[in-house]
Amino acid sequence: MSDLVTIILAAGKGTRMKSKLPKVLHKAAGKSMVQHVIDAAKHAGARRNIVVVGFGADMVQKAVGEQAEVVVQAEQLGTGHAVLMAKDKLENEHGTVMVLCGDTPLLTGELVKKLYEEHVKAQAKATVLTAVMPDATGYGRIIRSADGSVAKIVEDKDATDEEKKVREVNSGIYCFEKDDLFEALKSVGCDNAQGEYYLPDVLEILRGKGEKIWAVAADDYEETLGVNSRAQLANAEKILRRRKNEELMASGVTLMDPASTFIDDGVTIGRDTVIYPFTWIEGDSSVGEDCVIGPSTRFSDAKIGNGVTAQFVYGHECEIDDGVTMGPYVHLRPNAKISKNVKIGNFVEVKNSNIGEGSKLPHLQYIGDCDMGSGVNMGCGTITVNYDGKKKYRTTIGNNAFVGCNSNLVAPVTVGDGSYIAAGSTITQNVPENELAVGRARQKNIPHWLDKRK
Ligand code: UD1
Ligand code: CA
Repeated sequence: MSDLVTIILAAGKGTRMKSKLPKVLHKAAGKSMVQHVIDAAKHAGARRNIVVVGFGADMVQKAVGEQAEVVVQAEQLGTGHAVLMAKDKLENEHGTVMVLCGDTPLLTGELVKKLYEEHVKAQAKATVLTAVMPDATGYGRIIRSADGSVAKIVEDKDATDEEKKVREVNSGIYCFEKDDLFEALKSVGCDNAQGEYYLPDVLEILRGKGEKIWAVAADDYEETLGVNSRAQLANAEKILRRRKNEELMASGVTLMDPASTFIDDGVTIGRDTVIYPFTWIEGDSSVGEDCVIGPSTRFSDAKIGNGVTAQFVYGHECEIDDGVTMGPYVHLRPNAKISKNVKIGNFVEVKNSNIGEGSKLPHLQYIGDCDMGSGVNMGCGTITVNYDGKKKYRTTIGNNAFVGCNSNLVAPVTVGDGSYIAAGSTITQNVPENELAVGRARQKNIPHWLDKRK
């Protein structure tokens, strides 16, 4: 842990998003923007993080939870005003404070660390992180004086045509010496195009006092991209996806088409796993080695072992052990636990069930609230009838049972080890081990029926 303390600005509405949701809660690559920023600060070893919330304060506070301290900016009067809200919390701090924006989801911990270290090294009162943007529209421009030092920052809306040509921008991320920051904030006014208290004005004020102002330029402008609109959000999403995909490929995962592969940041994937196109792996998911996943597969919060094959599968909050083959068209719902070498075929749904090792569910099953042993063979169209309209009940199927096609197992019911169920049966009573249960009407053939009909 370093001595770094941060203020993360997250009170703005994000008018340009045209959303009911506070901007910083919009997700990029499966994680809210403010979470990306908190993670970068933590990765850089920040000792304290203070998030300024305002628009949708309850929602943002809930999302932040225990991860950081929170202060409220009831009225959003600008970034300078937002920083003031953290003043009391920082009463006993007298060193460096970094200000971050909650809408820069591409920021990395490495860059946060670099900014902090360079600020400390430069012994400046303020250091701004800058970047040269291909399109600087919307950003505050870095205006440098003849000797190359930073003179001031001019907001896009206040910039002259000449200033607008500058492509070096303010990333919205800075380090300040805390006491100087709050002293300078007293002099920030709101006589500008937006009628707001601009934090960047602090730089010009400190410079006017003869203090040292420093700038650190990001090597990669992408890391500092701010998100103000849905189009910028989509761009950030694309960059985050690309980063994760590159990391996975570098670690030994084959992605057939990275452009159509969407893997969340926290997901781990083992070596020699091959991912086919149109695949999403989200949230708290992990995939082992030597798997073949996709095409068109989505896993959310799923734990997947080694050597698993899955095509056209949607699995969420489920666990899949080694050697399982699934698909096409399989839905694994929460608490589906699939043991080793199980085979799940076409059009099968499994929910809140344990499927024992090597069992086969090859086609058209609904398995809900079921404890199934190993080596079970479920015929085509078999279902567990788990719901009577009021309550759910469990079905137990013993090892090596053979359930004939189109059977209904009406829960609560137990099918013993090694027993057989005749095709088309509706089973309402327990079946003892090693017995055959036939639960269907006997067939009757009517001779000469057609003759009589004539
Ligand atoms: C800001 C900078 C601009 C910089 C850009 C980088 C100012 C005046 N401008 O512009 O120089 O190039 O970021 O992305 O600072 N916020 C609050 N309270 C407020 C206003 C904003 O907490 O009263 C928060 C927002 O939630 C957001 C961040 O501060 O996370 C930046 O605000 P935003 O309105 O997006 O500023 P920009 O116009 O992008
Ligand atoms: Ca912004």
